[in-house]
Amino acid sequence: MRTSIFGCVFVLLLLLREPGCHGEEVTSSTAVNPCCHYPCQHWGVCVRTTQEEYECDCTRTGYYGENCTIPEFLTRVRQFLKPSPKVVHYILTHFHWLWDVINNTFLRDTLMRLVLTVRSNLIPNPPTFNSKYGYLNWESYYNLSYYTRILPPVPEDCPSPMGVKGRSQLPDPEVVVERLLKRRTFRPDPQGSNLMFAFFAQHFTHQFFKTYNRMGVGFTKALSHGVDAGHIYGDNLERQLALRLFKDGKLKYQVIDGQVFPPSVVDAAVYMSYPPGVPPEHQMAIGQEVFGLLPGLGLYATLWLREHNRVCDVLKAEHPVWDDEQLFQTARLIIIGETIRIVVEEYVQHLSGYLLDLKFDPTLLFNSQFQYGNRIALEFSQLYHWHPLMPDSFHINGDELSYKHFLFNTSILTHYGVEKLVDSFSRQIAGQIGGGHNINAVVTHVAVSTIKESRQLRIQPFNEYRKRFNLEPYASFREFADNEEIAQTLEELYGDIDALEFYPGLMLEKTRPGAIFGESMVEMGAPFSLKGLLGNPICSPDYWKPSTFGGKVGFDIVNTASLKKLVCLNSRTCPYVSFQVPAEEKSQPGKECPDEL
Ligand code: HEM
Ligand SMILES: *[C@@H]1O[C@H](CO)[C@@H](O)[C@H](O)[C@H]1NC(C)=O
Ligand SMILES: *[C@@H]1O[C@H](CO)[C@@H](O)[C@H](O)[C@H]1NC(C)=O
Ligand SMILES: *[C@@H]1O[C@H](CO)[C@@H](O)[C@H](O)[C@H]1NC(C)=O
Ligand SMILES: *[C@@H]1O[C@H](CO)[C@@H](O)[C@H](O)[C@H]1NC(C)=O
Repeated sequence: MRTSIFGCVFVLLLLLREPGCHGEEVTSSTAVNPCCHYPCQHWGVCVRTTQEEYECDCTRTGYYGENCTIPEFLTRVRQFLKPSPKVVHYILTHFHWLWDVINNTFLRDTLMRLVLTVRSNLIPNPPTFNSKYGYLNWESYYNLSYYTRILPPVPEDCPSPMGVKGRSQLPDPEVVVERLLKRRTFRPDPQGSNLMFAFFAQHFTHQFFKTYNRMGVGFTKALSHGVDAGHIYGDNLERQLALRLFKDGKLKYQVIDGQVFPPSVVDAAVYMSYPPGVPPEHQMAIGQEVFGLLPGLGLYATLWLREHNRVCDVLKAEHPVWDDEQLFQTARLIIIGETIRIVVEEYVQHLSGYLLDLKFDPTLLFNSQFQYGNRIALEFSQLYHWHPLMPDSFHINGDELSYKHFLFNTSILTHYGVEKLVDSFSRQIAGQIGGGHNINAVVTHVAVSTIKESRQLRIQPFNEYRKRFNLEPYASFREFADNEEIAQTLEELYGDIDALEFYPGLMLEKTRPGAIFGESMVEMGAPFSLKGLLGNPICSPDYWKPSTFGGKVGFDIVNTASLKKLVCLNSRTCPYVSFQVPAEEKSQPGKECPDEL
């Protein structure tokens, strides 16, 4: 009797104690995970200690205090001296006279080094979290089947889907896409990007974005996590062997109307992803299994295949004693080097709009503490869903082709040939990526899956990523978007700017004046991109020397590679080839023709 009374009193006391001590109201039995507030600033790590307590680990953030908010002295000085990304971008895209001077002095190297180090320092190396682990551990470091991730997931037990802010339910992804991302009328990219650029983007990135949904969310099939030319040679040895000719280092090919193309899967038995009913003799065997999708991808596959085999001839002439294996392996390194040069000096140069003449020169980093190696992040994959680039139809050699005609059509590539396709794709303008309402209805379903995937992955809010990449979080939807309709719709759908999701944030942010997308896409995309390009093993001091590339001749091929050479050394005639539409076609197509004046 006595013990049970004691017991009752004890239980009562226990029940009363918790809320009483903290002076909080008794609301629910389960405490809110304090990390749902994202309390730790400036890269501090939130560690939950008890039910409702947390600690921020502020080690080496340059800040201290409960939430890592108080700057150390040196941080204060640095903050004071550091120009904002807006100012830096403005300077890099204005003052022609200044850059005309800088481009031709040692300052070009100094600034290029600064661009590379400042950007790369935002990417952790070795990598950190993945879709399974929001804390550091060996499995997450070691298991290459996972994409890495920059920020840990939204904790599981939060009051709202994005943490503590926003509505209790996220908007239907179909509704987000329908009301904000789907194209109304085609809006061309003001930077003049063309389809040659768009297909290059897709072709290049699909060597390291190969989401492996069958394994689960957040997995990849591309285990080398970088620019390995796996889209040319296959992502595993078995596929590579099936694609190789085993003569002079070359890849298998077929000749159609006197022109070299990738072999059919009859001659190179690899799996290619085609709709049912496409006969094997019409399927081209390519390193990347999805590249039968678009003639633009088949075009680049053809160009790189011809380039690989051309490089093999050059190497064989230099090294008559080399066997097939060494010719193949060395040619592959040259192809990787050519790719990185074209990406830095032409693709990124075009995309950035910088007046600084960008330079691919690994030696710039030899005296800084740069880590070689790279791990692809799932945020990078989300960010690169640039489907607004795609036009409403494809204009080739005077014909207008619909999607129905274009997608998975195995005869377009051989029907028109490399020269006509390059010329046509180089002259047709691509869509603006940012600013909303610009995804063709044929691919809106991809945007829907992207949003769904980001929810399964519990990707943190857009504003948390703004902070992670040293950008000010937006205070309102009106500050975020300059289009009133977009701002209002987002307000209605998400309720709070701090609950806006990552991918819609990147796509709908106001664009920079005259630019293809907004500040965040550049400030978050560039670090992933440059880290991946310069973190490649060929850029390291032990690799970056002529002998790696078969001597001076091979090293020169890498050091002078360009998009134009890629095309024109591998085609009969040299068409118009660029990542931008020609100057005269850049201004409003079809409108206010100056001839009529
Ligand atoms: C008409 C042209 C295109 C079509 C039909 C298309 C279609 C698709 C499809 C069906 C997926 C897979 C979606 C999923 O499984 O949830 C995808 C993924 C993706 N697309 Fe596109 N796409 C096109 C153009 C582009 C372009 C121009 C880019 C530019 C970079 C691009 C970038 C991506 C990326 C990064 C992924 C994720 C890949 C991965 O993680 O495996 N796409 N696309
Ligand atoms: C730290 O963050 C928490 C949660 O956002 C907040 O309640 C608390 O007041 C902050 N502490 C300080 C010292 O700013
Ligand atoms: C400097 O480089 C930029 C980008 O390549 C270019 O637009 C500009 O004309 C260059 N100026 C000189 C003098 O090379
Ligand atoms: C990586 O993790 C996945 C999922 O746990 C597992 O199936 C796979 O075997 C792991 N890979 C390696 C190489 O351990
Ligand atoms: C594929 O393209 C060729 C050449 O333009 C055309 O003749 C053919 O009709 C197309 N096939 C389909 C299914 O649209």
